[in-house]
Amino acid sequence: MGLLIQLFDSLEGSPLQTSAITAVASVSIFIASLASLVVYYNSSSKTIKPLPAKIANNKARKLGTWKPEDYKLPVPPAYPEWDIKTFKPLPYRAFKHKYNVTMGIRNMDPNSWIELDNEWNKFHDLKMKRIEEKGEEVYGTLPEAKAASLELLEELRKFLPARYPSLFERTADGMKNLETGEVHRMVEPLLEDPMLTVARLLQDDVAIMIENEQGEYYLKGGCIMLAGFWRLKDKFNTSLSTIHTSGDVPKYNTHLKKGMEKFFVRLTPEAPVVRNNYFIQTDDNLDWSSSIGDEDNETVGWYTADPAKSVEKIWYRSERQSVRRLPITGAVIFTIRTYFLPLTEMCKEPYVPKRLLDGIESWSDDVREYRGYDKFYEVVLPYLREKVAEQAAMGYTDENEAEQYPF
Ligand code: HEM
Repeated sequence: MGLLIQLFDSLEGSPLQTSAITAVASVSIFIASLASLVVYYNSSSKTIKPLPAKIANNKARKLGTWKPEDYKLPVPPAYPEWDIKTFKPLPYRAFKHKYNVTMGIRNMDPNSWIELDNEWNKFHDLKMKRIEEKGEEVYGTLPEAKAASLELLEELRKFLPARYPSLFERTADGMKNLETGEVHRMVEPLLEDPMLTVARLLQDDVAIMIENEQGEYYLKGGCIMLAGFWRLKDKFNTSLSTIHTSGDVPKYNTHLKKGMEKFFVRLTPEAPVVRNNYFIQTDDNLDWSSSIGDEDNETVGWYTADPAKSVEKIWYRSERQSVRRLPITGAVIFTIRTYFLPLTEMCKEPYVPKRLLDGIESWSDDVREYRGYDKFYEVVLPYLREKVAEQAAMGYTDENEAEQYPF
């Protein structure tokens, strides 16, 4: 400062004085803003101590706010006999004899939050290709979801090496993948978009939902790369309700909306849920079902698809979705794990053809339209009937079938 005063003295009366004053003022403003930024950063990045759920009392929270709770998802035991080469995809056969539009949620065993299997490499390679080809169309994190994405990374860092120790090893600042050799930095400063890191770890697609002051949930972060029938770019930064109505989910407004909205607001960190669904697909593309149109078309849908010509082209797609509230930020994490196999392969399993046939035949008109019935029934229904008859001759009939949904 002394130097600056001397400088002013020597410039007194000179035309340079005004510009010198302006320069010094600008520097001071810059330094002051920098200081206030640092103060803000320190105060905002200070971790707030999580409170016991009772004291945090988030049940009575002002919508759009959340007090950090000290709940911790139990660290899971290693998955028994899990091996990336031999562990087969879980056989979700998530159809019932009668199809009903309901939320269809069940309590989730916390150990089962993330499911991986011997298709991990296939999913991973495809995701890497998707990232290269589509870039930020298939992932992203809005500023509102940044803290939640960091909490998600931390949750994965606790869960994955414990559950799948032969695949993931915890490191000082992230995790190492023992299969690919990839090293992931998972704490600040991050090296890439956090949802890109999430995508590299899992077979699942993942969405971060953030509550606003009206209690509506918005998709504020995600890595959606293998969804088959929908695109992140169409749903990003939109509400749960818009996400579903823009896709014409049958009976959403009458049978789902109210229940789902209540469920999301009331969801607590210790009570995560799962649900399963199923679709029939008329091609074998896991990432994008090309039958419903080119992914880059403005609009896509079953209406543009050609009817399937042979049952060999028909694939069964089933998602296992989990919904969890993170205890610190209160964000809701939605995971979507897809199981995908040829219909003909699945129909070798006892009771499957009859249950699937009954399920499809019970679809109402709006469900048929949403699920592309017109494009596959001519090949799928006769095939299923043939398999039902073959299995009935072997004694696999409804009377002998044990209820074991979703398997
Ligand atoms: C308890 C939570 C939820 C329930 C009960 C639910 C229910 C449904 C149902 C019934 C469908 C029709 C297909 C099916 O049977 O699965 C659907 C489709 C869909 N859901 Fe959800 N959902 C939930 C959460 C979410 C969340 C958090 C997202 C955020 C990404 C989401 C995104 C979608 C999308 C993108 C579709 C496809 C819409 C389309 O075809 O364009 N869902 N959901």
